[in-house]
Amino acid sequence: MRIASSTLLAIPLAAVALGACARVEPGSDGATPRTPVATLDAPRTALAPVAADGTGSTIVLAHQGRRRLALVADADAHAVRALDVQTGEELGRTDLPGTPGQLVIAGDGRVFVAVRDAGEVDELAPSPSADGFPMRIARRASTAGEPVGVALTADARTLLVTCGWGHALDAFSTRSLEHAWSADVAREPRAVVVDDDGVHAYVSHATASLVSVVDLESEGHGVRLVSMKQPGVFSGNADQQWRQGYALAKTDGGVLATGVLANTGDTTVLTETYGGAGFETMPSEQFTIATVDPRGGDVGRAGPGERFEASDVAQVVGAPSADNSCLLPRAMAYDPRGQLLFVACEGRGTLEREGFADGRWSFSTAAWSVGGEPTGIALDADRRTAFVWSQVERVVTAVPMDAYRVPGGAQDGSLVQTYPLGVGEIVGDATKDVGRALFHRAGDSRISSDGRACASCHPEGRDDGLVWATPDGPRQTPTLAGRLVGTAPYGWNGARDTVKKHVTSTVSRLGGTGLDDRELEALVDYCATMQPPPRAAEAKAKTAVVPATASATADPLVAEGRELFESPRTACASCHMDDGTYTDGNRHDVKSRAKGDPGRAFDTPSLRFVAGTAPYFHDARYPTLRALLAGSDGKMGHTKGLSAHEVDALEAYLRTL
Ligand code: HEC
Ligand code: HEC
Repeated sequence: MRIASSTLLAIPLAAVALGACARVEPGSDGATPRTPVATLDAPRTALAPVAADGTGSTIVLAHQGRRRLALVADADAHAVRALDVQTGEELGRTDLPGTPGQLVIAGDGRVFVAVRDAGEVDELAPSPSADGFPMRIARRASTAGEPVGVALTADARTLLVTCGWGHALDAFSTRSLEHAWSADVAREPRAVVVDDDGVHAYVSHATASLVSVVDLESEGHGVRLVSMKQPGVFSGNADQQWRQGYALAKTDGGVLATGVLANTGDTTVLTETYGGAGFETMPSEQFTIATVDPRGGDVGRAGPGERFEASDVAQVVGAPSADNSCLLPRAMAYDPRGQLLFVACEGRGTLEREGFADGRWSFSTAAWSVGGEPTGIALDADRRTAFVWSQVERVVTAVPMDAYRVPGGAQDGSLVQTYPLGVGEIVGDATKDVGRALFHRAGDSRISSDGRACASCHPEGRDDGLVWATPDGPRQTPTLAGRLVGTAPYGWNGARDTVKKHVTSTVSRLGGTGLDDRELEALVDYCATMQPPPRAAEAKAKTAVVPATASATADPLVAEGRELFESPRTACASCHMDDGTYTDGNRHDVKSRAKGDPGRAFDTPSLRFVAGTAPYFHDARYPTLRALLAGSDGKMGHTKGLSAHEVDALEAYLRTL
């Protein structure tokens, strides 16, 4: 025998661990063949989730033998990093084909990660190296476009993926990673959690006043819309909307959602700021934690924005003051043992702990500084430690969950540990980081008097889909990412010829005291170079729920639509120039003056990424492109003479811009 004695000893252990599936066949010469040696490694490199609730995050905890690891989705580095949370050692960086969203670990140790701009979910498995890192991509599957959040069903058979730009919940078989079904949901879905009996998936939205509850059992996978509006929070006749729905958490009693209520104000009167008239005495935005009740309303296949049902239980917490509000909540995790809720606040750079008492969540019973852009939380309930991943700083912060809670318990801030990742790697550029931090900064009086950040209304550089009362009349927030270069002037009435002038006026409208010139330049640079929506990912979409948006050259319908768009018959391109900007930079009266508008002329808006920015027009009068094409005839170009097929073609073309 040529086998080393240590290997001999290991074989019986491995055989037990592998069970009947992997039988060790000795080679013809009696020596142990290669395969069994490789499988010997499997138990050593295999991962097991620390919390087996199937909820995805940008940071998840795993056991690997006796080691305890954190896997982190590093969006800037396009990688999943592995950190040994006992030694602080970074174990390996697994490169991905794009920007990761969330990841999740299945009970059998497989890791699934959403890759946003590549439009796919990848399954990661240990590599043949001694500790399995960096991992390798074992399988890949296409999604409906821009996968962000992930979750596993309780039986671990199905992987659910929210697709932000593709506004869908996609389901995959975890066994084969084959696409199983897709449900169309409202704009910009982010988090997803599944209830324990596997009946419903809850989906939050960055841009919509609702949580979608998707039926996992029935054939049609109906979507119920639970309204997250909470009347009576703001005084007066203010219209109130719920935004920033990035995070959900399962509790013993149901599902919690965090979000921000926004007071958009009375759009028929001119205001001094963006939004609510009670601005001086009350902030226009309010952090909330609400319980989502899945019983509210019927199950139906309601499309985005079509049917709202009241949630039975929804409560607002938090003092209405600017400096005590988490205006960009990005992640949430619940600890049933201590009834503790942790929320990560972007812009404030904190991990906050909320306590539940007397039927209410009390805001911020403790807060820790974790860096400006925390995107995920993972709890180790046994070791009473909360781990937070902060993207900009590329650091994992470990916080004692019970600190400041019980007299004599852990009180000491020094128990907080930080683990920097990617040390020495150069990712992104420093000037851009200044602008990025400013764009997301909440509670900075130089930017706004009530704590609002640019990202409050322009989440990820996109838009909140809201119409705000402004000094110019009703104004819908425009998308910025990928739209600013070459599209001057700015603002719906084209009043400012540079982005810098526009941003200066924004800051003054928000009641900010102002930025210095260097900071302003950095902010403007960041706005102009923000990552655009993943058009390519949407074009790849292959599910029925996302309209066919194959590339303009390949799809004959799109080509026909383009011809129509450029033809004198519709006259679209006479204003939306077909030069890649889709604007002529001029103001026109397209008979769109609304109540509250002092003027009638509007700057031709760019149509870049127009498929994903519903509703349309400065006052959001058209909920869909289809409604716009039907309703604007004769006032803005000509569509009436078009056949149904031609309207399809024109819309298909608009969706590729
Ligand atoms: C309260 C919501 C809100 C906040 C906060 C906000 N914006 Fe806006 N943004 C809007 C609205 C509404 C418009 C359209 C304004 C108009 O037509 O004059 C707009 C327009 C813009 C535009 C012009 C886009 C174009 O294509 O015309 C830029 C650039 C911009 N915002 C950047 C910023 C920056 C930078 C910040 C932070 C300093 C910020 N915004 C904060 C709502 C907001
Ligand atoms: C006379 C110039 C002009 C022509 C011709 C024109 N548009 Fe427009 N378009 C505008 C203006 C101005 C607006 C903004 C109106 C408003 O917000 O009140 C606009 C808005 C839009 C929007 C909404 C953009 C958004 O983000 O809300 C779409 C989509 C659009 N146009 C498509 C078309 C199509 C398709 C045609 C041809 C059938 C067309 N336009 C013809 C000037 C024009």
